[in-house]
Amino acid sequence: MRSSAPQADQGAHGPDLGDWKTSLEQRLAVHLSKPTAQAAAPAASQSLSRLQQAMRHGVLNGGKRARGLLVLAAATASGADPKDQGVLDVACALELVHAFSLVHDDLPCMDDDDLRRGQPTVHVAFDEPTALLVGDALQTLAFECLAERAGSAELTIELVGRLARATGGLGMAGGQAIDIAAVGQTLDQQELETMHRLKTGALISAAVEMGGCLGPRRQSDSHWMDSLGVFAQALGLAFQVVDDLLDASADTQTLGKTAGKDQAQGKPTFVSLMGLDQARTYARSLHDRALSALDHAGPEAMALRQMAQALTQRAY
Ligand code: IPE
Ligand code: IPE
Ligand code: MG
Ligand code: MG
Ligand code: MG
Repeated sequence: MRSSAPQADQGAHGPDLGDWKTSLEQRLAVHLSKPTAQAAAPAASQSLSRLQQAMRHGVLNGGKRARGLLVLAAATASGADPKDQGVLDVACALELVHAFSLVHDDLPCMDDDDLRRGQPTVHVAFDEPTALLVGDALQTLAFECLAERAGSAELTIELVGRLARATGGLGMAGGQAIDIAAVGQTLDQQELETMHRLKTGALISAAVEMGGCLGPRRQSDSHWMDSLGVFAQALGLAFQVVDDLLDASADTQTLGKTAGKDQAQGKPTFVSLMGLDQARTYARSLHDRALSALDHAGPEAMALRQMAQALTQRAY
């Protein structure tokens, strides 16, 4: 179940997200299968193969592929073809950065988690130095995917800049710094939202906005990128509110990661701030806010609506 695509009421015209997910995973596997045997000495080639094996463990091990699918959904809404290899490579870049963030998030010096996507985390299955290097290598592979995809140099530079900003000190990494410093503290709603918008929202916004850059609608509709931005901000925050809710209310087997960790580790979350019921209501209101940003987006945005529903109503 953990590896199934996000499910939603697709209606008659929604695309098959399972199909998209299969294409995305096939492309990820290609990027993670580059030959490693060129190194002259056998010991070196063994080290490279082991690192690649650990990278594959960190990526090709299930996962909802939410960020990659959001790239494909936003690209489709913008008039691009989600099966196009250049579009899939942008989706791969987002999934690779996300996988890197999870490998590091699970390290003993961060959240110290043994289980991810129903399997041992990378530092458990391999070792800590390898997990650190897997994160480094996945991050750079993501930028390689962007740099080497077919497309204009101008667009490539824009995509690289967007992903770099979303990943770095004022994006995901910055949010993780706030998260680590906030252990044992009480954050108010504004502080918690800032943390969530950075550690999780930044990559979700990058996924939607980078997908939006790939099609002609960006030029033909002057409000389009703004609408995508509002949609993504609300969905990104909703996504982490639901993650907080699931940590407090679902079981380890369903989640594929250790349940109840936030409370055990003294992490401030939307559940610690407002309780389960209010956090659920808040997630629903963010979902509604996301959808209303697409009020004028037309049927091309069906997959984005499906994703918003699937991600705010998810079970893991
Ligand atoms: C988990 O992300 C980490 C957060 C940012 C909340 P996902 O819930 O998307 O994890 P996978 O990729 O499906 O395993
Ligand atoms: C992680 O948030 C956000 C990242 C940048 C990876 P969490 O620490 O809540 O994610 P899980 O619950 O371990 O997946
Ligand atoms: Mg964490
Ligand atoms: Mg964690
Ligand atoms: Mg969590």
